[in-house]
This record gives sequence, C-alpha cells and structure tokens, in this order.
Amino acid sequence: MKSLLITIDRPAGAGKTTVSRSLAQSLGYRYIDTGALYRGVAFEAKSHGIHHDDDNGLEHLCSILDIKFVAGKDGTRLTVNDSDITDQIRTPEITMLASAVSARTVVRKYLLDLQKDLGKEKGVVFEGRDMGTVVFPDADVKFYLDASCKTRALRRYKELSPKSSTTLEKIERDIKDRDENDSTRALAPLKPAKDAIIIDSTDLSIKEVVELMLTHIPNIS
Ligand code: DC
Repeated sequence: MKSLLITIDRPAGAGKTTVSRSLAQSLGYRYIDTGALYRGVAFEAKSHGIHHDDDNGLEHLCSILDIKFVAGKDGTRLTVNDSDITDQIRTPEITMLASAVSARTVVRKYLLDLQKDLGKEKGVVFEGRDMGTVVFPDADVKFYLDASCKTRALRRYKELSPKSSTTLEKIERDIKDRDENDSTRALAPLKPAKDAIIIDSTDLSIKEVVELMLTHIPNIS
C-alpha cells in the first residue's frame, strides 16, 4: 500500500495525542507530535532566560538548537542538543509558554523548515495546529478534530495525577486562553483547512474517532 502523509489539527485538549498515536499505530505509520517542538523551544527559552516576546533572543536561540525526536524504550523522546527534555515539557507553565512562543514569526519559521524535513518520508501522521493549512497543504488526508471546551477540560482533568492541586475550572480557563491565543494569532492561526475532514469528538470515544478516521483513508495500492 502506498504510504500517505496524514495531518490532524485540533484545539488544546481535543484528545488528539491519543487519537493520532492510535491512528498511526493502526496504519503502521510514524507519529509526529509537533506541539512537542513548540514546547521544546519554550522550555529552552525559559532555561536561557529569554522572554517569550524577545524576537532577537528567540532567533538566536533557534539558531543554536538541535531538536530531534529519538526512538526510546518507552516510545519517542524529544531531545534538544542531545539532552532528553521529554519529561519537562508538560508542566502548566511550559504549556502556556509554548502557546506564547508559537505566536512568534521567528519560532514558526524555524519549526516550519524542521517539520517539512520530517515530512520528506511519507507513512506519517502529523499532529498540530497548522499541519493541513500551512506546513503540509498538499497532505494526502487532512483531519480537523474538535470537541467542546468543557469536554476537553474534563478530559485533561481526568488525566491529572490525584496529587495535582489544579481545579477543573482552572483547566477550563487555561484551555479557553490557549484557544484564544492559538486561533487569533496573525501567523498560522488554528483553523480547519478547506479540504479537511472535520470530526467532532465530543460524544465519541478514542476508538470511535480512530475508526471514523480509518473510513476516510484511501486504500491506495
Ligand atoms: O499540542 P500542544 O498542546 O502540545 O501544543 C503546544 C502549543 O504549541 C500550543 O498552544 C500551540 C502550539 N502549536 C502550534 O502553534 N502549532 C503546532 N503545529 C503545534 C503546536
């Protein structure tokens, strides 16, 4: 079967990571979580004391970063200049910072080239915010995954460790803020591509979403 390039775009917490990973697994494809790249830049900006709107600082930072996805024992790891930062990029602070740096032209330009490079080999599911609109406008199949803000907040809340002191209300507020940041920025805002298949996952399980997606994947031989 011919290998395809599939894109999935979605707002924060629309259940994508699990869905995208499962879809990739079902097809025997690679899965690329592009949000991790923005989180990686945010983490490095913080480590280097660079403010999220300091374009000169961010430009210099990007010029010295070597960001890679590396296969590890428990799945794909994210490394920057050979340091594994996978476990440090999911904190609430880095999450909000990633949304802020993702609005900066210098960061998007740097990551655009990197993502295009990763897409040279097909047989891959790319997940992000601008995959079908900007990075891979010629993708073979494009999905746009949505879910109500309340549902997304509840899903995140259920994933949290029992030790977490975060409340459902705070998660919902953060998701709303990120939706606002991600969809109103001038550059590559979150929106469905014209030719995207839109799936509302509010009332669907992960399995149901993946099954629905599979019905849209052409069986090209
Ligand atoms: O998917 P995520 O929540 O890990 O993404 C973190 C941030 O990165 C998100 O707020 C927006 C940004 N992002 C983006 O602008 N474009 C992408 N393709 C992926 C993520």
